Amino acid sequence: MAIRRLSLSNFRCYSSLRLTIEFPIIVLTGPNGAGKTNILEAISFLVPGRGLRAANLGDVALTARNTHNHIKNWAVSATVAGCGGTYEFGTGISQEIPMGRLKRAVKIDGQLMKGQSSLGEKLSVLWLTPDMQRLFNEGPSSRRRFLDRLVFGFDPAHAGRLKSFDKSLRERSLLIQNEAVLGKKADPDWLDILENTIVEKGVAISAARVALVDRLNPACGMGIGPFPSASLSVVGVLESWLSEMPAVEAEDLYRSSLKKSRKLASTNLGKGIGPNYSEFFVEHISKEMPASQCSTGEQKALLISIVLANARLQSLERNAMPILLLDEIAAHVDEARRAALFSELGDLGAQAWMTGADPSFFTQLSGLAHNFSINNSKVTEIPFT
Ligand SMILES: Nc1ncnc2c1ncn2[C@@H]1O[C@H](COP(=O)(O)OP(=O)(O)O)[C@@H](O)[C@H]1O
Ligand SMILES: [Mg+2]
Repeated sequence: MAIRRLSLSNFRCYSSLRLTIEFPIIVLTGPNGAGKTNILEAISFLVPGRGLRAANLGDVALTARNTHNHIKNWAVSATVAGCGGTYEFGTGISQEIPMGRLKRAVKIDGQLMKGQSSLGEKLSVLWLTPDMQRLFNEGPSSRRRFLDRLVFGFDPAHAGRLKSFDKSLRERSLLIQNEAVLGKKADPDWLDILENTIVEKGVAISAARVALVDRLNPACGMGIGPFPSASLSVVGVLESWLSEMPAVEAEDLYRSSLKKSRKLASTNLGKGIGPNYSEFFVEHISKEMPASQCSTGEQKALLISIVLANARLQSLERNAMPILLLDEIAAHVDEARRAALFSELGDLGAQAWMTGADPSFFTQLSGLAHNFSINNSKVTEIPFT
């Protein structure tokens, strides 16, 4: 998979930008604040979700200086070689809907799509950003998000599952809270319906995560050159049920535990079951250490290992190599690892977009990559030096 053309309009610091891509590797260099990550973020909007910054759609639009007219309509468009062919993708804000919420519109080959899932069926993008280095030392929700992103490339329906799970869960909590706090009786039939969706989607979410981890572990366990081998696991009540009994029985148990916790949900009782409570663990195999206890550099190397293993597995199973966005990739990565990463990217044949402040980190890619130098939102292609 690859982007052949990328155009931005009113996107972050770019009023307008057009890049034509011929090489498999694209290097973006320039000082802090130049506009490098913004380009990666634009690409991350070519798949479902809120992009690599998990941004509010309104914040993405160019904020013009010295004017009170806040532009709301940003757009990213691209010519994409994806699954099954080459497509023209377009995305941006559709319209302002009531309550001040913005919606993302998606067009493929000029046709307005219903929802974003068709993007994920045609294109897969994986990213690593400096923010993700805190992943192993934060709460479990960001690790779950990382894992879910790994699942998307294999199972584009996963994004929709998560969305409807979250929506039903929120609605259920609201009903129960209104009953507990305001004395407004919750309709038991409606709770049944919501809990059915929670159970069906919840079990499917856990099963998809476990299935991916099982398939990814052999690849992660090998390590790649100087990148460490990793062992992944998803741990939770639902996951252990799924390992012990057929999925329908796990669904029954989950359903009855939700039903029992209707009265208890305002207190903490009855919590702890569901994909929203699962833990995603990563272990550094040769150190026999959980990732949370590894050094910053080791954690970054583990993340690179996992992302590369995931890319390789996608190319085997889906016969398509995802696009990789590697933000500030050279930082905290020593020279040997950097060289190994570049050679692995070459072997994979992946389209990889990399950023860095120091252009000298990338000189060995001369002849193999674009080198876009960015300064104050101005992008110039220059030779590697
Ligand atoms: N909505 C926006 N409108 C205009 N500029 C923005 C917007 N959002 C972010 N920026 C600016 O974009 C600049 C470049 O950001 P970024 O791409 O993250 O830089 P870097 O090159 O360090 O990765 C920053 O100076 C930031 O203030
Ligand atoms: Mg940046």
